[in-house]
Amino acid sequence: MPRMRIEELPTPCAVVDLSRLERNAARMAERMTRLGVRLRPHVKTHKCAEIARLSVRGHFGGVTVSTLAEARGLADAGFDDLTWAVPIALDRIDDALALGARVRRLALLVDHPDAARALSARTRGAARRTPVFLKLDCGYHRAGVDPEDAASVAFARELSELPGLDFRGVLTHAGHAYRATRREELHAVARAEREVTVRFAERLRAAGAPAAEVSVGSTPTMSVVEDLSGVTEARPGNYLFYDAFQAAIGSCVLADAAFSVVATVIGHARARNELLVNAGALALSKDAGPTHVDPRCGFGAVASADRSRSFPGLRVRSLSQEHGELGSDAPIDYDALPIGARVAIVPNHSCLSAAQFDRYHVARDGVVVDAWRVLRGW
Ligand SMILES: Cc1ncc(COP(=O)(O)O)c(C=O)c1O
Repeated sequence: MPRMRIEELPTPCAVVDLSRLERNAARMAERMTRLGVRLRPHVKTHKCAEIARLSVRGHFGGVTVSTLAEARGLADAGFDDLTWAVPIALDRIDDALALGARVRRLALLVDHPDAARALSARTRGAARRTPVFLKLDCGYHRAGVDPEDAASVAFARELSELPGLDFRGVLTHAGHAYRATRREELHAVARAEREVTVRFAERLRAAGAPAAEVSVGSTPTMSVVEDLSGVTEARPGNYLFYDAFQAAIGSCVLADAAFSVVATVIGHARARNELLVNAGALALSKDAGPTHVDPRCGFGAVASADRSRSFPGLRVRSLSQEHGELGSDAPIDYDALPIGARVAIVPNHSCLSAAQFDRYHVARDGVVVDAWRVLRGW
């Protein structure tokens, strides 16, 4: 049977460019090997077993998850070393422990003594101790204990002694790297992420809490970092797809983006110099994007369906549920974009957009070669 071209897919749909994906995966895997750390890629971006398999090539096979749905799907696909990198919700402890019993290792995360004690109460007396990390706030100020607070050290010591738990060490995520405006600023965040985390782990060891593992990682910092001494593993995830946001802050160039939403031109509003496509907020997400770099960035970058031609002046100005309004400061070339034409939109935030789809159409050189399932839900 002849294979479909991207332009023949029903829209809106999610397309993963295999060559770009493989290149992104290989580049990060080599980087982390060169810097001497184990790569534990985060699967939250793609939620897909095939992509997870590709991302651990050349490394030890461990992955990071953001949901139990991802964890279960990956366990079914044979992954047996997982870290659930969100502080554990008390109502999911039993589900997590049930999955933990099925795999070699499912590590959990805490940043509050109440959660640690609740976890210990459920695991004491179990045949196997549950691996647990202390989440550290290295500057993002979303989750994690304060590295400067003496209470954080005392908590780590308690954690390392709680029955049923196997204290593994410290885990952090430099999400504040996304506030950078260019690549040079990413270097500073990456340096601080390492320094704060390694120093805190050393303090814990000196205080008698054996922090064997030091886990860091975001895509912006891991894309530029040049020194990871003292770190044992890195957990970037978005780098497999990248997106318009990452390109704007300098983690990558737009051509690296491996994920796009393919949509169809469904309207011409010539009087307003606008186009309408059938990909709206549900397909692209309403992530406002890198407005701190470009206040008029819109909701994604537009190209031809096979990405051979970009339309840099065209911006996704506005989104409603199933409509995307594209505008431009220059006169739109309506002949190049007739009704029915397909476009590829690289969204601001590929993780949020990808999670809207049940499957990816996997393409190489414009030809669809496979379809991969997305492990959605919680
Ligand atoms: C705890 C944690 N680790 C790692 C990552 C991966 O970072 P990125 O999405 O920048 O690749 C995230 C992303 O949100 C995260 O929350």
